[in-house]
Amino acid sequence: MHTGVCYFPEHWEEDRVETDIERMAEAGLQYVRMGEFAWSRFEPERGDYDFEWLECAVSLVSEYGMEAVLCTPTASPPKWLVDEEPSILQTEADGTTRHYGGRRHYCFNSPVYRRESERITERLAERFADHPAVAGWQTDNEYGCHGTLRCYCDDCASAFREWLRETYGDVETLNERWGTAFWSQEVTSFEQVDPPRHTAADHHPSRLLDYYRFASDSAIAYNRLQTRLLRAVNDDWFVTHNFMSHDDLDAYAFGDDLDFASWDSYPTGHVQTGDGPVSDAEFRAGNPDNLGLDHDLYRCVTDEPHWVMEQQPGDINWPPYSPQPGDGAMRLWAHYAAGHGADVVSYFRWRRCRMGQEQYHSGLLERDGTPDAGFHDAVAASADFDRLATASLSETDADETHGGSVALLHDYDNLWALSIEPNTPEFDYWVHLETYYTALRERAVTVDVVPPMTDLSAYNAVVAPTLHLADNELANRLTAYVEAGGELLTTIRSGMKDPYNKLHDAPQPGPLASTVGTTVDDHESVPEQLAATVEYDGQRYDGRVWNEWLAPTADGATVVGRYDNGPAEGTAAVTRNDLGDGSATYVGTWPEPAFAGVLVEDLLERAGVKTADPLPSQLRLCRRDGLTWVANFGAEAVAVDAPDDAEWYVGEPTIGAFDVAVTDTPPAALSVDD
Ligand code: GAL
Repeated sequence: MHTGVCYFPEHWEEDRVETDIERMAEAGLQYVRMGEFAWSRFEPERGDYDFEWLECAVSLVSEYGMEAVLCTPTASPPKWLVDEEPSILQTEADGTTRHYGGRRHYCFNSPVYRRESERITERLAERFADHPAVAGWQTDNEYGCHGTLRCYCDDCASAFREWLRETYGDVETLNERWGTAFWSQEVTSFEQVDPPRHTAADHHPSRLLDYYRFASDSAIAYNRLQTRLLRAVNDDWFVTHNFMSHDDLDAYAFGDDLDFASWDSYPTGHVQTGDGPVSDAEFRAGNPDNLGLDHDLYRCVTDEPHWVMEQQPGDINWPPYSPQPGDGAMRLWAHYAAGHGADVVSYFRWRRCRMGQEQYHSGLLERDGTPDAGFHDAVAASADFDRLATASLSETDADETHGGSVALLHDYDNLWALSIEPNTPEFDYWVHLETYYTALRERAVTVDVVPPMTDLSAYNAVVAPTLHLADNELANRLTAYVEAGGELLTTIRSGMKDPYNKLHDAPQPGPLASTVGTTVDDHESVPEQLAATVEYDGQRYDGRVWNEWLAPTADGATVVGRYDNGPAEGTAAVTRNDLGDGSATYVGTWPEPAFAGVLVEDLLERAGVKTADPLPSQLRLCRRDGLTWVANFGAEAVAVDAPDDAEWYVGEPTIGAFDVAVTDTPPAALSVDD
């Protein structure tokens, strides 16, 4: 576990750079990320390269005992290139050009930009090929940031048609898979298919979904050009990309091209991106489950520990509000990342910038070079990590933590399809996923966030929220998992559609019917003023947003929860199907948090996974390498009961506001003192 920082030597006078780098080393940082966005400095005019300034900085990084992470500068093509080749610019769905002036204005499918990106990447890579201080590379920066994942230009139109040709072979198949007989959507050649540009009414959902897939694939193909070049120049370098929180880009599909995934964590910003209320403590430290979900997802992209490439250093410029993070929050976030499996946490940025677009974004240092709050937190986190490195760590033993492992299935196709047809303002895929993630995490369960086609055999329990698009292959895998003793829980809107975003002809849940042993007779979206309650295990709970009226069909299926009012009164809301050695639960409503909690608890009990008593919402436990992190995201201290012989490597059993403690005691042996 190490710390690092993002640095822009080109923003400061040359004679300041050494002072900065020396202080980074003194602060205990090990990695310095540089070069991002600096194309106009690397190549002020076509063919006139200048890498000298970066080489000096890399050498200083090395002199002070640290390593450099370099970035390809392709997220911000310079003005001369845009003037020479305006076709590289992106186009909005309404035909507006995304002009030069900010960043991310290039199109992934522009053949010209691909060629130019390869050229600058190769030049840069060759220049640093033998520099021992370069540990690895970050490709580009946050593909898709600022809503730029999808472009609608002519290059994209051609590439989309090619993508469709490869996917469907002939246009008759496309017409059949999409179902184009409505609203005159039939096409007689691939040339007739345009990107889903601005139009009066809704676009065809199958075309939209394929466009979303195509856009994600375009970013992957573009990224691969860079990773191949970098590896060809020096195979010892690692190559990663910095994804965003709750990203729209299929991160799993990048897995083969990256040595590990990294992501950019801005906790007090992320909590302000949804529609929900933000608590006082969340304004100060973010939400632990919102953060944890991203850590667990990016950790699972490859088999290697992930990185946080950019960690919020203090107040930030881009969310609606930027309260100062709570005292110690920047240290808490670093620990929380480590507890979730990250090996490096690198702060963005070293020093507040005195010019340009992000002047209202803090750094570890203030603009005059004096330490800001983030600096002290980063120093403390580095010292803690040094201490932990000397603790005798062991592999996490599942038995001593919670007796089993749990997967949360997460899928970009479902995310995209449901964003195209939410059918109620409140249906948000991530929020639905988080409802169950929170229920697991408040019971201190470690969660792998993985795509549905993962080998599930090692998991005792699988929570699969809204498997909206389903085919026989998925159904067979899930059935085999359950028959072999697995415990599965799936939820509303599952099995509604086929992978082409078209309703199955069989009633919902289509191919999943034999796995879950139930059919959905009807569904409704539920505005808040309509009461919808469910009786489950003698208790009454709210079901909201989307309710389905279930009818068990299989011999092994039983009703375990019923609607107890409204038009669905007496109808099944939750069913369980005993199948082989396991069982499959279908939850036909969006449960309130307490309801999600008992559903998950029952699932884990059947799976033999021990659970801790539910933790308060601000407190989370993470287990990694024989250590337990106790992270307090709340503004009040929390006292934890631990065995007398517990060793506390960091902190102590009473954990202050926005503070953290690390012990060898497994989560199951810890409890919160009321
Ligand atoms: C990230 C981005 C950085 C910087 C940062 C500000 O999304 O990668 O370049 O803009 O946000 O918080």
